[in-house]
Amino acid sequence: MISPRIVVTRRPPGIALDQLGSAGDVWLWPEDRAIDRELLLDQVASAVGLYSMLTERIDAELLNSASRLKVVSNMAVGVDNVDLAACTERGIPVGHTPDVLTETTADTAFGLLLMAARRLVEGVDYVRRDLWGEWDPNLLWGSDVHGSTLGIIGLGRIGRAIARRAGGFGMRVFYSSRSRHLDAEETLGIEYVHLEGLLAVADHVIVATSLTRDTYHLIDAAALDVMKASATLINISRGKTVDSGALYVALRDGVIAAAGLDVTDPEPLRADHPLVGLPNCVIVPHLGSSSRSTRESMALLAVNNLIAGLAGERLAACANPEVYD
Ligand code: GLV
Ligand code: GLV
Repeated sequence: MISPRIVVTRRPPGIALDQLGSAGDVWLWPEDRAIDRELLLDQVASAVGLYSMLTERIDAELLNSASRLKVVSNMAVGVDNVDLAACTERGIPVGHTPDVLTETTADTAFGLLLMAARRLVEGVDYVRRDLWGEWDPNLLWGSDVHGSTLGIIGLGRIGRAIARRAGGFGMRVFYSSRSRHLDAEETLGIEYVHLEGLLAVADHVIVATSLTRDTYHLIDAAALDVMKASATLINISRGKTVDSGALYVALRDGVIAAAGLDVTDPEPLRADHPLVGLPNCVIVPHLGSSSRSTRESMALLAVNNLIAGLAGERLAACANPEVYD
C-alpha cells in the first residue's frame, strides 16, 4: 500500500510530528510563518490528509484542487477558517480541538480581565518608564473584578469554564447565548439575559462565542454604547466578533473604560494600529491556548483526528458531524 500523503501547514510539537510521520508520507511547510496560499494549493493537490492551522483558509477553491483529500484536521477549536459546508458536501470530516484547551483559554480570559480592569499593564509601563515616585494614593485606579457583575457572551465549554472561575471571585454572572442552558444556570448559579440586557448590567463583558455570520461585529458601536462607562470588554473568541474601529473610538472617548484582547481584526495587528497605542487597551497575540501542555494536547488531538480520518474512522472531535449522516 502506498503511504498516504499528509500536508502539514506548520510545524507542530515534535511528538505530534513523529506520530504523523508514522501515519503517512508527511510534507511539512518548514518555515516559521503561515504557508503561502499558492504553495498550499499546489501541495494539497495530491494530499489525502491536511493538518492545518487557523491561519489557512480551507474553502471550496482549496477543496477543488485537492481531489484526493479524505480529512482536514485543524489544530484549533475554532473552525471559522474552514468552509464546513463545502467539506461536508465532499464527504470530508473536519477535525478540531475542543476540550483540551478550555481551561487554558479561560485562564487567559481572566488574565486579560485582571490586566485590563485593574490597569496592571499601565502599572508595568509606569515602572519601566521610571515614573515610580513615592506611593501614590491616587495612582492608576482600576475597577474591581471580585464581587462585580460579569457578562459572558457565548456559553460553550470556554464560557462555562469562565463562569466557574467567576464563582471564585464572588461575581454575579449573566450570560447570553443563542439558546438557554438551564443545566448550567443551575450548576453554575448563572443567569440568562438577552445581549442588550447583559451589556447594560455587566461591569465586565467577556466575548467567548464562536465566530459565525450571526456573531460578526456582535460588539459594534451600538453595543458599546449600551455598556457602562466603567466597563471592561474582553475578547478571547475571534477578532471579527468586535468592530475594531468602533472599539477604538469607544476606548478613546471613554464610552467604556478598558479592553483586553487576545484576538483582533485584523490579525496580526501591527504596532502602528490605533488600538495598540491606547493605554486602556491590553492586547496579546492570540495566546488563548498557549501553554506548553495545552498546545501539545491540541497537536496530539489533531493528529488523532487526522489518523482516524485517513483510516475512514469517525474523528474523536469532528466539527461537521453531519458528514456522517
Ligand atoms: C484558537 O483560537 C483556537 O480556536 O483554538
Ligand atoms: C467553543 O467551541 C468552546 O469550546 O467554548
